[in-house]
Amino acid sequence: MAISESTSETGRQAFRSFLEAYPEYSDTAALDELRRLDFTRLDREHHVYLDYTGGGLYAESQIDKHMQLLRNTVLGNPHSTNPTSIGATDRVESCRRRILEFFHASEDDYGVIFTANASQALKLVGESYPFEPGDQFLLTFDNHNSVNGIREFDRAHGAETTYVPVTPPDMRVDPGVIDSYLNLADPDRHNLFAYPAQSNFSGVQHPLSWIARAQAKSWDVLLDAAAFVPTNRLDLTRFQPDYVALSFYKMFGYPTGLGALIARWPALEKLHRPWFAGGTIEVASVQADRHYLAAGSAAFEDGTLDYANIPAIDLGLDFLESVGLDVLNKRVKCLVGWLLDSLLALRHHNGRPLIQLYGPVSMKSRGGTVTFNFYDPDGQVIDHDLIEEAANREMISLRTGCFCNPGAGEMALGISKRELDSCFSDPERGMTYGDLRLCIDGKSTGAVRVSAGIVSNFDDVFRFAEFAKKFLDGKRPQTISIA
Ligand SMILES: Cc1ncc(COP(=O)(O)O)c(C=O)c1O
Repeated sequence: MAISESTSETGRQAFRSFLEAYPEYSDTAALDELRRLDFTRLDREHHVYLDYTGGGLYAESQIDKHMQLLRNTVLGNPHSTNPTSIGATDRVESCRRRILEFFHASEDDYGVIFTANASQALKLVGESYPFEPGDQFLLTFDNHNSVNGIREFDRAHGAETTYVPVTPPDMRVDPGVIDSYLNLADPDRHNLFAYPAQSNFSGVQHPLSWIARAQAKSWDVLLDAAAFVPTNRLDLTRFQPDYVALSFYKMFGYPTGLGALIARWPALEKLHRPWFAGGTIEVASVQADRHYLAAGSAAFEDGTLDYANIPAIDLGLDFLESVGLDVLNKRVKCLVGWLLDSLLALRHHNGRPLIQLYGPVSMKSRGGTVTFNFYDPDGQVIDHDLIEEAANREMISLRTGCFCNPGAGEMALGISKRELDSCFSDPERGMTYGDLRLCIDGKSTGAVRVSAGIVSNFDDVFRFAEFAKKFLDGKRPQTISIA
């Protein structure tokens, strides 16, 4: 079982204790071999990559296979009947089928729309959902800004936005309140409910059982699966949201410019695009000033698809399947479980904790994303920018800030509406993140996030835990150490 040869005796001892606490980690040994053979760049360059929620990593073999495919295939612009165009169309259509198969969705139930990323998939729903006065948009505080942004569409059409709060410290929605929010739907109106299957802030996995419950109360459900699908199986036979948004680079690193909206056919028919473009119409006329949208997915895919890269999605899905999501999920649970235990145990000499965690302390119904702040022995927060700078010096890639999830950040950090209203009080004045930080004086406006993924290993989490210890008792790491 791999731990890097340069690891100290303390590291080896920690690894032995880790294996005792998480014996099931041994079942995931194939991933060590995978990292050694197919992700050689990570250890060659001494990286500790802990930003899988920001972006997944690709295996080198995925790139080789894609380059080989491009070298040996002539692909033309789809939407035509010439041989190279048909070749490209066949690959695009077979990729749609492969995506549905991967998520256990039937072609009769769901369609796949290729987008640039999850944000574009979310925007397609937002801009096309038939919001009118009296309609509702319900969403959790814990949401990426690309979901929050949908409120601008519903507001422009006179519909109402309602946020469901999450409760610190574990950052879940109180199970006792969700039904009272779902009861707000008016069965005679349009009701859209959006939430993330996994939080990109706290790692919380919000219940997929909400989907059927919400649908039974007349909600159309938009599931943001971007942070969930890289390490968890989404089974669209078992759980059937109306709309699912995701980015492929988060799942397998490459290609970086493709995502999808996977939608139930009746839910797709409900959407009305606010414009038309090349590729989205059956026919359009200048003089008659009319257009007819194409049927199905095509109406949502503006212009030419990324047809040279779409076949790389098949390769990425094959790769993930060959690794096995269950193995991957098990590995992430062991490593992040150990990291949580280790970080939460760190205390200054006066007994005060080094970190404050925003999210669940155990691995139950949570993924491999961990967000927290560091505190000094006097209980003062240590600026997350300082943590990032120090981590950069040790080749540790982590993320700091609010991760485009301001609602979760505001709840976790205890920033009130009153404080925020006063910071945003001058509508004429623009505001930067720096201005907001100054305005919310004395409190942190962000946090530190680490996340594990496909080839994370014990070395990665151990090196992060050792890095964290350097902040104990008011100390600061100074030296560049590449272990
Ligand atoms: C939960 C979640 N939703 C949506 C997004 C947006 O994804 P993208 O930037 O690929 O559009 C992210 C990105 O981090 C995310 O974590």
